[in-house]
Amino acid sequence: MSDDPYQDTRGNREASIANPKGAGTLRPSPGTGQAMDTGSAFLIGDTMTGGYGAGPDILHDCTIAVNPGEIAVIVGPNGAGKSTAMKAVFGMLNVRQGSVRLDGEDITSLSPQDRVSKGMGFVPQTSNIFTSMTVEENLEMGAFIRRDDFRGTMAQVYDLFPILKEKRNQAAGELSGGQRQQVAVGRALMTQPKVLMLDEPTAGVSPIVMDELFDRIIEVARTGIPILMVEQNARQALEIADKGYVLVQGRNAFTGTGKELLADPEVRKSFLGG
Ligand SMILES: Nc1ncnc2c1ncn2[C@@H]1O[C@H](COP(=O)(O)OP(=O)(O)O)[C@@H](O)[C@H]1O
Ligand SMILES: [Mg+2]
Repeated sequence: MSDDPYQDTRGNREASIANPKGAGTLRPSPGTGQAMDTGSAFLIGDTMTGGYGAGPDILHDCTIAVNPGEIAVIVGPNGAGKSTAMKAVFGMLNVRQGSVRLDGEDITSLSPQDRVSKGMGFVPQTSNIFTSMTVEENLEMGAFIRRDDFRGTMAQVYDLFPILKEKRNQAAGELSGGQRQQVAVGRALMTQPKVLMLDEPTAGVSPIVMDELFDRIIEVARTGIPILMVEQNARQALEIADKGYVLVQGRNAFTGTGKELLADPEVRKSFLGG
């Protein structure tokens, strides 16, 4: 991949080079031997430190980012802070140090609602649909910030997830796990986001359904929406990832392209089951 923007920086950046603005280059992660240039990232949670309320810091200098045309994947053990990092980027917890930037704009102090208005779509790990509402009502709820006609977007969502069209008048709670996740992703798409954040979109589904969901996610990415997602199915997710982050105890442990991480002996041994 000669047009990989990360190729340019491979191996020729010193870990000691500090960015004066406190932003820009993610330190080389162990095992990858390279820095990733994140300064121009489309969406970035940059060296975030913070936790819940007045509680202890969960994130420590944690950086996650995604660029146009990319699928970026965050993996790591249970409790590593993956969901916390996503919530921090979405504005759901206090970032005590670091910043969040979208398309060059510092949005660190914006509420989640304002971030949605700025173009962020977020599908949380849990409680991501209204179970007692119909599929179509869920999609309508997703369009809550829009004042324009959103029927075209709904048609696009139904094209992407035909099963949702079939079940549009059924309560979302009656759907299968994979179908519920489609509702959740569809709901987020209803705002026509500039970037989509997904926290474990394949949680609790069978391997076949997981493959199907990944195919749909790739399809969404191809429409031009960059995707930042957390995944438990690390190996499969890294296979479709342009960029991968391994988080451990709230810190970046390994960073690289999906391919690099899949090939890294340390990552394989510790996080991919050998
Ligand atoms: N709402 C919360 N309030 C306080 N602590 C939390 C909350 N949610 C998660 N945590 C703590 O933050 C840490 C990271 O959790 P989480 O981000 O959910 O991990 P992951 O998504 O990687 O499994 C854990 O120690 C967890 O107990
Ligand atoms: Mg989580």
